[in-house]
Amino acid sequence: MSDWILIDCDLDDLQLNGKVLKFKNKTIALFKDDKNLMAFGNRCPHRGGSIGNGTLKNGIISCPWHNWKFDSKTGKAIENEIHCLKTYPIEKRNDGVYIKLK
Ligand code: FES
Repeated sequence: MSDWILIDCDLDDLQLNGKVLKFKNKTIALFKDDKNLMAFGNRCPHRGGSIGNGTLKNGIISCPWHNWKFDSKTGKAIENEIHCLKTYPIEKRNDGVYIKLK
């Protein structure tokens, strides 16, 4: 059984702000820069803020609760790489964009 799931929603409004989506039992934060779509676990490792309600600017994702910052390529916290967001693979296919949840 495939762990890839079609992201069945409009992604055009993703740019500076993220988006929070639920897939099965997981809550995912989606962000998009000029080239890439990125998916992270929505839970901030600091105190559980909703990362998907944060912003992405110049490759840095900012948590809306206490402004911790994370590298959008790796998910690692800028100030302390021990803390990181869970990352999920994204794949563009002919019929849409998919996320792998495992
Ligand atoms: S919960 Fe994200 S910075 Fe505090």
